[in-house]
This record gives sequence, structure tokens and C-alpha cells, in this order.
Amino acid sequence: MERVALVTGAARGQGAAIVQRLRKDGFRVAACDVLPIDAPGDDVLALPLDVTSEDQWRAAVDATADRFGSLTTLVNNAGVLHRASLAAETPSGFEHSWRVNCLGPFLGIRAALDHLRHADGAAIVNTCSTGAIRPFPNHAAYGSSKWALRGLTQIAAAELAPSGIRVNAVFPGPVETPMLDAATQSRLSEKGRLGTPMEIVDAVAFLVSDHASFITGAELVVDGGQCLRIG
Ligand SMILES: NC(=O)c1ccc[n+]([C@@H]2O[C@H](COP(=O)([O-])OP(=O)(O)OC[C@H]3O[C@@H](n4cnc5c(N)ncnc54)[C@H](O)[C@@H]3O)[C@@H](O)[C@H]2O)c1
Repeated sequence: MERVALVTGAARGQGAAIVQRLRKDGFRVAACDVLPIDAPGDDVLALPLDVTSEDQWRAAVDATADRFGSLTTLVNNAGVLHRASLAAETPSGFEHSWRVNCLGPFLGIRAALDHLRHADGAAIVNTCSTGAIRPFPNHAAYGSSKWALRGLTQIAAAELAPSGIRVNAVFPGPVETPMLDAATQSRLSEKGRLGTPMEIVDAVAFLVSDHASFITGAELVVDGGQCLRIG
């Protein structure tokens, strides 16, 4: 079966690792980011995409379908981390988190929908966070945007099931990527080891594959037990 994936936030971190893995699994991939990306081969199309822009979403989906003939799979991986106490948070800081982390995936689902409806084995994976399972202090903007993305995933799964489109979410714990600076990685590693990007990718690759053909609306926590620890 032909598989074409669009992956956001693909320039680095988990997104870059998802592109690498999906290529190995036989996908052709549109790798999208606000940062520049060098396509590693003909099976990858590098595209500029700010996920908060409806126009850029339309252009990216059209370019993907023009190049590869279809779009079967959407991975809404792009995200921004922003921490502040409730007192220090600003309307613009709060809104920016929501625009990238929740509005972006919503716009992506809308832009991809016509193609996904016509695809065999269509699947969407949204990258949430354990911040959408647990209420971490000083994460009002990030955490609430990911809780909203969790809700959007459930609604999309219910609404799109009759169209044969599976919609699932992964919930990574702390992962070694540029999103977490060295001080944060060191602080978090005192509570338990950090995950590697590939450990998250394994979950994403499973959820978009035929091995997950009966799975939709799932919430797959990949956190090495972070949510199980108390205190
Ligand atoms: N690293 C962690 O500990 C961790 C934990 C839980 C969840 N997550 C989530 O995993 C996902 C991947 O994060 P990562 O760890 O690889 O972080 P990262 O910062 O290394 O990568 C995020 C990517 O998203 C891109 N991006 C940011 N804003 C964008 C926009 N408006 N449009 C398009 N692309 C944009 C960035 O340029 C970057 O390439 C994110 O959704 C993040 O919230 C990460």
C-alpha cells in the first residue's frame, strides 16, 4: 500500500527522527518546519511550514500531493515549550503556545482531510505530552495547550472514524531533544532517565502502521514511568 506522510516540526528532535524512521518503513515524507531542512533523498520533500498559517498548510498539502500523488498520514509533531508561573505568564505567551500546539494541528487536520478521506489506511498522530496527563506547575500555557490537543485528538478520532481515518496521540515524557536545555535535562534526569527521540518514534511509527489498524482514539504514554511517580 502506498504511504505518504506529512510530518511537522521535522527539522530536528523527534520530528527529524520520525522522518528517518518513516522512510525506513517505506513512506515518502513531506518534512515540514519553520527551520530549513535539507532533503536527504528523493523520497523526502522539504517544505517550509509555519503550522499556525492556514495558507501555508494549504500550500504544503498541495505540494505534497503534487509530488507524491497522495497524502495518507499526518504527524502533528511541531510544538513549542514555554514555562512561566501564572503570575508571570502573558497573554501573548499563552496565546502563542496555543496557536502552535493546538491551532496548528487543527489547521493541519483540516488541510489534509480531503486527501485522508480518499486514502487507504489513513492515520493521524498528534504529539501531546505528559503535561496533558499531569498538572505540572508553571506550565499553564504549554500544559493547557496540550490538554486541548488531547481533547482535539479524541474529537477527531470520533468524528473521522466513519471516514476510515484513525486518530491517535502519543504523550512523551522528558526526551533528549533541543526543546530541553542542558540544565533542564540534568534536573529532570535526577528523577528518572530521559527518553531518546527514537523511543518516541517507535510509538508514532506503530500508530501510523497497519499493526495499529484497529486502534483509534488511543492515548499512548511513552514516559519511562514519569506519570507513575508520585511527588
Ligand atoms: N522533548 C521533550 O521532552 C518533550 C516532551 C513531551 C512532549 N514533547 C513534544 O514533542 C514534540 C517534538 O518536540 P521536540 O522534543 O522534538 O522539540 P524540538 O524543539 O527539538 O523540535 C520542535 C520542532 O518544532 C518546530 N516548530 C516550532 N514552532 C513551529 C511552527 N510554528 N511551525 C512549524 N514548526 C514549528 C521547531 O522549529 C522544531 O524543529 C513537540 O510537540 C513537543 O511539545 C517534547
